Amino acid sequence: MGARLAVRDVSLQFGGVKVLEDVSFTVEAGQIFGLVGPNGAGKTSLFNCVSGHYRPSSGSITIDDDEVLGSPPATLARHGLARTFQHPALQLHATVLENVLLGAHSRLPGGPVEWSLRLPRTGRSEKALRQEALELLDGHGLAWAARTRADELSHGLHKGVELCRALLMKPRLLLLDEPAAGLPHSEVEQLIETVRRVRDDDITVVIVEHNMGLISALTDRVVVLDHGRKLMEGSAVEAQADPRVIEAYLGKDAADDAA
Ligand SMILES: Nc1ncnc2c1ncn2[C@@H]1O[C@H](COP(=O)(O)OP(=O)(O)O)[C@@H](O)[C@H]1O
Ligand SMILES: [Mg+2]
Repeated sequence: MGARLAVRDVSLQFGGVKVLEDVSFTVEAGQIFGLVGPNGAGKTSLFNCVSGHYRPSSGSITIDDDEVLGSPPATLARHGLARTFQHPALQLHATVLENVLLGAHSRLPGGPVEWSLRLPRTGRSEKALRQEALELLDGHGLAWAARTRADELSHGLHKGVELCRALLMKPRLLLLDEPAAGLPHSEVEQLIETVRRVRDDDITVVIVEHNMGLISALTDRVVVLDHGRKLMEGSAVEAQADPRVIEAYLGKDAADDAA
């Protein structure tokens, strides 16, 4: 079952600069939810708050019924959260397969001491995880690259590797930060199919994306952020027709023309 995410009155500031102000929304279990808005609106910062990379100054973030605000990323992983980054940061000297397997430690039995001792039961599950990682790469057309070093792949392919790493964590809540940025049109179509399959596997998905074709094709609901505040919430169609959203993207004259 996918997880339910509730963000309530979340505010974040850096040295007196308000990056997020009282942002609230709820993503129901099994939804594909869009987070859109102009550059600098605070979308990535909000993801960083949910994934434990930033600590909001106030508010509440719950996954199902558990308060997670202020928890470190490793704790969030145990709550079923996985994410990708706007700028993927792979281990460049490691192979693609090794990079994908980095996502799996939260699923191995025991702890780091046991993993480093390479006990037989760890060995068995590691083998199963490698198999799963290879299957995920295969499903994303990346099987050929499994033993290639990450620094030999293009930026676009890094995004696919990162998605496989996130999926190997068997998340219940997946955050995708601009997954289509820089992808050619044909690969965007494939990405749409992939995200649909992810949702069909009972994973709740939140997507930050500028590609409105992708947002319209995939999302059940969107929130529009501008200057750290929630501008509106509704369907992708409603968002694109909303004068406040048009103004945020294109300026007031464009919004008046559209009205
Ligand atoms: N670690 C940080 N320190 C200072 N300012 C930050 C930090 N992270 C984000 N910001 C600021 O927060 C604002 C929103 O950025 P971001 O969340 O990346 O927006 P978006 O993803 O919507 O483009 C920007 O003005 C950015 O400079
Ligand atoms: Mg961003």
